[in-house]
Amino acid sequence: MKKKKPLLLMNCTSLKNKEIVLAVTGGIAAYKSAEIIRRLKKEGASLTVLMTEAASRFITPLTLEVLSSRKVYRDIFEDPLSHLQLTENADVFLIAPATANIISKIASGMGDDIVSLSVLAYKGKVLFAPSMNWRMYENPAVKNNIDILKRRGFYEIPPEAGSLACGEEGRGRMASVDTIVDCIKDVLHPKDMAGMKVLVTAGPTREYIDPVRFISNPSTGKMGIALARVAKWRGAEVVLVIGAGLQGNVNGIDTVWVETTEEMYKNVKEYFKWADLLVMAAAPSDFSPKVRHDTKIEKEGIKSIELSPARDILSTMKRYKGGRKIIGFSADTGLDIAKLRRKMTKKGMDILVFNDVTLKGAGFGYDTNRIYIIDRREVKEFPLMSKEECAEEIYNHFMSYQGDKKCQ
Ligand SMILES: Cc1cc2nc3c(=O)[nH]c(=O)nc-3n(C[C@H](O)[C@H](O)[C@H](O)COP(=O)(O)O)c2cc1C
Repeated sequence: MKKKKPLLLMNCTSLKNKEIVLAVTGGIAAYKSAEIIRRLKKEGASLTVLMTEAASRFITPLTLEVLSSRKVYRDIFEDPLSHLQLTENADVFLIAPATANIISKIASGMGDDIVSLSVLAYKGKVLFAPSMNWRMYENPAVKNNIDILKRRGFYEIPPEAGSLACGEEGRGRMASVDTIVDCIKDVLHPKDMAGMKVLVTAGPTREYIDPVRFISNPSTGKMGIALARVAKWRGAEVVLVIGAGLQGNVNGIDTVWVETTEEMYKNVKEYFKWADLLVMAAAPSDFSPKVRHDTKIEKEGIKSIELSPARDILSTMKRYKGGRKIIGFSADTGLDIAKLRRKMTKKGMDILVFNDVTLKGAGFGYDTNRIYIIDRREVKEFPLMSKEECAEEIYNHFMSYQGDKKCQ
């Protein structure tokens, strides 16, 4: 089969060329708006910042002006048509933090400051990230106003539970900047995978020798997490089964944490019944010790460890496959298409994603990868991309084959 040239990127994960209006209102979390601007700009977006008078008591307009590289708008009378013109080309309108006060004003249709007035005139997608003391967030009036906004099609980015700036504990702390960026990408992404059920696995497993030692591998789960997030942005229902000891943004994704290959197998088997597509990006351990000791082995007490092959999750799932599709991964040293195609057949994969772990920026631990997408007809080679961009290309390939009914 002919090897194709690297393809040009075509995906929606980045915020490049997106116009975002950020409205900052007067809560303690207003200081985090500086970080929101930095992150969104890093993602390629351009920002126009609006501030209420109260917000400018918490963070100076000068700071946000410098960070956004644009004028910050606060006064509806300074630039008389600003409330109509500023948002005209915006892809999304983000209110972060959103005070109880601004939520109430917007819910009741008021427009006596630059934020509430601009929202009244905006016809696009509005996200708001409430931030307040937990008693305020639980207040029935606030709850009711949030419900009103949601019914109107606004997207709430719910606050987190934890210690609050006032020293109390409870739900009210503004969502993390990571979560806010994730929600913007989610809202902006076309939903071409809506109605699909996708089961994704990520990360390594641990095969214990004794209670304090195990066999594992350096997988960080970043590729699998990116695949789960991108499937969610594209509208799929997603379940993520993820290996031990990992951190990552799994905002809004049903996530099952597992430790051993056997635990991963049991969960994959269970959710496979539900899924239309299994994306097996995890790196389960290939071997497990023949004996797992219940107590810690003394250093001197062991000379060698006898291993047996761990369960091969994919080969086992092949038996239950039915009409489901499987995308598998192979990390190896050197591309051997014939060997990979044999592996695809053996393990019931429809698509195999290969990455050469000897290449710079590819594989374990990196935020980037260099992938080949292989099916029974063709091989596509891609340049170095972020793992989210890789995920986009993998689903683009999968969806086009679904459409063509060429996927076997
Ligand atoms: C020190 C301080 C902290 C405040 N923090 C919050 C907050 O986190 N969330 C909130 O909804 N209101 C908070 N408020 C109250 C708002 O600042 C107040 O309701 C103000 O009118 C909001 O105006 P705006 O919605 O136009 O920005 C705080 C007030 C003070 C004095």
